[in-house]
Amino acid sequence: MAIIGLDVNYARFLLQSNDIVAIPTETVYGLAANACNEHAVYKIFSAKKRPSFDPLIVHAHSIEQIKSIVTIIPDQLYELAKVFWPGPLTILLPKKRIIPDIVTSGLSQVAVRIPNHPLILDLLRSLDFPLAAPSANPFGYISPTTPQHVEDQLGTIISYILDGGPCQVGLESTIVSIDNDELIIHRPGAILTDDLKKVSKCKIKSSTNIGSNIQTPGAMKSHYAPKNKLILGNVDELILKFDPKRIAILSFDKHYESISKEKQYILSAQASLEEAARNLFSALRYLDSLNVECIIATLVPDIGIGVAINDRLQRAAS
Ligand code: TXA
Ligand code: MG
Repeated sequence: MAIIGLDVNYARFLLQSNDIVAIPTETVYGLAANACNEHAVYKIFSAKKRPSFDPLIVHAHSIEQIKSIVTIIPDQLYELAKVFWPGPLTILLPKKRIIPDIVTSGLSQVAVRIPNHPLILDLLRSLDFPLAAPSANPFGYISPTTPQHVEDQLGTIISYILDGGPCQVGLESTIVSIDNDELIIHRPGAILTDDLKKVSKCKIKSSTNIGSNIQTPGAMKSHYAPKNKLILGNVDELILKFDPKRIAILSFDKHYESISKEKQYILSAQASLEEAARNLFSALRYLDSLNVECIIATLVPDIGIGVAINDRLQRAAS
């Protein structure tokens, strides 16, 4: 069992000793290590059983600190950084040699962000190195949004989980890069295309072609998968095809009379997409713990953060 606590000093001590620690962020919990030490970073890959070709995001406390690990921040990305950091935006930038190849899986760019959570910012400011941190789940499974989610799956492997409470956003950060003056969105998240458009004059392109995205190896088809089979579609129609006792429902805002209460999870009774995003991974974990044939779910309205919710649902279903 890992200790779940609020002791930033202890977390700092472990990280300085090249150990790994689970950390809260506003998006999901991360599994952190000294980004400049390849032995420490190796422990992340090992704990998560993550393939070495899937690179990690590096977390820093300031743009100044990010300048110490990247060779350049192009103007088009700098203006985004100034507006959206700290926050759920990850930017790909050319790395300096201080970031070992293991962090970027040999790629020349490193993914960086300044997370927006008081505990992780305190921790980062107390350290003299940035933190590499992927989501704190075994590779391919659903990201954790509470300390208990981390404990449930990695509790026997790690020793400390810094308790920042439930994550405010609940979905992983938006990932962007720049290519010939075009802003490319590699993973949708809480920073929306419309938010980016308000700040950036660049043409914006989405490159989240599920499963065929070599530039973002982690954006693979089978990501976020629950163990129970997830089927997406029109719930009213799908329900008729199964024994109602053998299925579970993930619903956006609607209650289904023919299914027992324990076997359905309503993401937001008020039909709030933000609340649905916050609840999505908890919902999938809960429904995955049930003994059912499959989980049936609908996509949510494809607007705002609904785009990111639907992206995760489609990956979970594939
Ligand atoms: O919100 C988040 O981004 C969370 C919190 C902990 O910060 N982190 C997170 O990390 O979701 P992870 O490892 O689960 O997802 C990172 C994604 C992966 O798809 C990975 O392939 C991609 O970012 N990535 C990381 N470094 C990259 C690089 N240098 N080039 C291209 N893609 C990269
Ligand atoms: Mg992940």
